[in-house]
Amino acid sequence: MRLDKFLADMGYGSRKEVKGYIKKGRVTVNDQVIKSDKTQVNEQSDQVCFDQELIQYQRWYYYLLHKPAGVISATVDSYEETVLDLFSEEDFRDDLFPVGRLDKDTEGFLLITNDGALAHQLLSPKKHVEKEYYAHVDGIMTSEDQAVFEQGLELDGERTLPAQLTITKVDEAEQTSEIRLILHEGKFHQVKRMVQAVGKEVRYLKRIRMGGLALPADLALGSYRSLTDDELRILAQPKNKA
Ligand code: URA
Repeated sequence: MRLDKFLADMGYGSRKEVKGYIKKGRVTVNDQVIKSDKTQVNEQSDQVCFDQELIQYQRWYYYLLHKPAGVISATVDSYEETVLDLFSEEDFRDDLFPVGRLDKDTEGFLLITNDGALAHQLLSPKKHVEKEYYAHVDGIMTSEDQAVFEQGLELDGERTLPAQLTITKVDEAEQTSEIRLILHEGKFHQVKRMVQAVGKEVRYLKRIRMGGLALPADLALGSYRSLTDDELRILAQPKNKA
């Protein structure tokens, strides 16, 4: 690949900026100062240095964020804090984006990457990658609701795919429930709208799993970390299940 692309991919600046750095002699390839941005480099075997520091080439980035409530699932916004504002200066890249959306008040598992192909694979309803949610609900969820969700229901004229509802707790005195819900697609506000469709209301919502990967218990709310190669493999498996 071209040297200027290599440096831009690695976050050293825009193509224009890195061309300037190359012209100034700040970049070496295999210990030779290179002043032409069109120089081709092999990202696996050539040693590219910027200000004498070796650059390890990495094309794709995968982070798992434990999204807190109060931030929006967007890359930039003039008014609201976004999930990318939670990234350190060191890790931030302007090609990172969240894979799908969690509502502003929803917490939990959110993948942040620059790999559009993986994002498509994880979000496409045809691939049926499971998304599991945990929710507190105002109202008593019932076995009838389980059957309705399993059959699929109409949300504003669109039919939902079968979804698996588990009722983990019911408080008759408080008239509240705790549930887990497995979806195979990601319609707008889907969990809240499904619960509303059976006459109850979601009070708290957290995504706890995507495909075969659960939100790690040791990942604090608001923090993120890179996925390991194993985790990435598990996530990217077609039709993955926990
Ligand atoms: N369903 C919702 O209603 N909200 C989310 O954030 C995710 C799924």
